[in-house]
Amino acid sequence: MRNLFAGLVAVLMAVGPITVRAEAARDEHSYAHLDEVRIKQVYLDLDVSFEQRQLAGFAELSLDWKKPEAKRLDLDTRDLTIERVSAQRADGSWANAPFALAKRDAKFGSHLRIRLKDAAPKVRVYYHTAPTASGLQWLEPAQTLGKHKPFMFSQAQAIHARSFAPLQDTPAVRFTYRARITAPAGIRVLMSADNDPVADGHGGFRFQMPQPIPSYLLAIAAGDIASKQVGPRSYVWTEPGRLDAVAKEFEDIEAMIVAAEKLYGPYRWGRYDMLVLPPSFPFGGMENPRLSFLTPTLIAGDKSLVNVVAHELAHSWSGNLATNGTWRDLWLNESFTSYVENRIVESVFGVDQALMDQVVGQQELLAEMKELPALDQHLVLSLKGRDPDDAFSGVPYQKGEWMLRMLERRFGRDRFDAVVRAWFDEHAFQSVSTEEFLEFFGTRLFDTKDSPVQRQELDAWLHQPGVPKHALLSHSARLEAIDAQLAAFVAGKKNAAALEANAWSTGEWVHFLNGFSEKADAAKMADLDASYGLTQRQNREITMRWFLAGIRANYAPSRDALRAHLIEIGRRKLMMPLWTELAKTPQNKAWATEVYQTARPGLHPIAQNSVDAVLGYQPR
Ligand code: BES
Ligand code: ZN
Repeated sequence: MRNLFAGLVAVLMAVGPITVRAEAARDEHSYAHLDEVRIKQVYLDLDVSFEQRQLAGFAELSLDWKKPEAKRLDLDTRDLTIERVSAQRADGSWANAPFALAKRDAKFGSHLRIRLKDAAPKVRVYYHTAPTASGLQWLEPAQTLGKHKPFMFSQAQAIHARSFAPLQDTPAVRFTYRARITAPAGIRVLMSADNDPVADGHGGFRFQMPQPIPSYLLAIAAGDIASKQVGPRSYVWTEPGRLDAVAKEFEDIEAMIVAAEKLYGPYRWGRYDMLVLPPSFPFGGMENPRLSFLTPTLIAGDKSLVNVVAHELAHSWSGNLATNGTWRDLWLNESFTSYVENRIVESVFGVDQALMDQVVGQQELLAEMKELPALDQHLVLSLKGRDPDDAFSGVPYQKGEWMLRMLERRFGRDRFDAVVRAWFDEHAFQSVSTEEFLEFFGTRLFDTKDSPVQRQELDAWLHQPGVPKHALLSHSARLEAIDAQLAAFVAGKKNAAALEANAWSTGEWVHFLNGFSEKADAAKMADLDASYGLTQRQNREITMRWFLAGIRANYAPSRDALRAHLIEIGRRKLMMPLWTELAKTPQNKAWATEVYQTARPGLHPIAQNSVDAVLGYQPR
């Protein structure tokens, strides 16, 4: 089937520049038959129970039949209990429909097949989630800032939506949605939709998302959440105890939206709000439409980590408008977004900051790729039989951003910007593939007469490991000054105090510590700590790298703070390098395994999976 399809695409592409909207019948990470039927609208009616750690109710799916004679609906689920299914007949009446839930697959969950008498316009699935749902995290009050109320949030990307709603869980399908969610008194519910700051939740919180979205952008959170308006179309939402700090940190949001609009056209989603979650949130941010989910580790007090907000905002164009059709092409979401993020940073915070981000990103990518299997270094991923979470790395972010910057440089900003803008415009609310990227950018840029870029060069970025030899490294004068300081410090020509690092920004410290880490020794660390109090810093981008150096140099004074960090911070990027480094020696691994006993219950299921693998931990 796949070969036949690929053959057809090849033939059509050879015919010439007629646009082929290649619509595959299957996505290898979904049980859905996309050529038969597609979900076009969803209504969720669910109750949030903290006691049972479950969502319970029904999902009503409105269907767009391509093959009415198929008489079946294949859905993705994971650890859902299906109570019953009912289907609507053409005359509007409802009747129970038979269904079969297949055995659970460890990576993809359980295929739910519903048998229908005809092409039902609507199907309702009554269900509840499992306490262990991979896409939800249920927090005890003790894991929140306020300590009095529980909290719950979802994380659906890549294939976790199926653990909290029965869906065609593939980015190839888009639907609009509405929802009514009930929750205990004193708990506010938010979704990736139109959140009403004055809703009181009486009779349930009601939501609408009128723009069609893929399933991985379905999102929900519930807890003690307050809001504050920070811009003409933006609110921040978080626990009351950090509301003011969050509002201050993200006060530049409107400037960022305006900067992005100037480059890539109007923001099409109405409001852009930000929800700051408890520290177990496993990512820096997640681009849930109208409501980005963010880690509290961004609240550094000096706006130094708001590039993550720029990133999630950028997804409002790259990813949420033009969406990777399958997870093989994650790079189409993340590379464009990283590139756009950097353009926003440049225009709001200046070119120095943007260049520092580029240099740090490139150097961290080169370091990371040394440890990655060759196939995972391709922009186009090979995911056959794999959970997309397992192929997650900096490659779709930094390597792809690097390639796009190469195109920008060769064709010039004006030309390149116009094509990127057209890419978002002409694929708004659609899914895209690498093949479509090549056709679109080929016709407009690299297949044109006298093009300064050849197609083979792109193939090397897309389908080869590493970074092509001709790739240009970004340069930052400020970071080059740090390199000189580092060299003097490591050679013993300067002591810590002589570095005069009190005024260093987060980016400068990150760069210094990245370089220092491999060469760290305990005496130098003590010297740095005495001058700059690094062990006690609150900025987690800095402490993560400091702790990493501490593990390598066997620097005992940072151990207690490292332990606290590992227990409190569930953001994968800020903990995985530490667990991974600790696992390298038997003594450190034993210590880490002991810490993990305490840390594991507080971690998100996705994060638990990652750490389990590194420490060889066998969950009972
Ligand atoms: N969409 C991603 C997070 C993601 C990717 C979750 C793939 C699951 C599968 C989000 O936009 C993201 O990239 N977050 C980064 C931000 C950073 C690169 C600025 C993060 O969490 O660190
Ligand atoms: Zn992203």
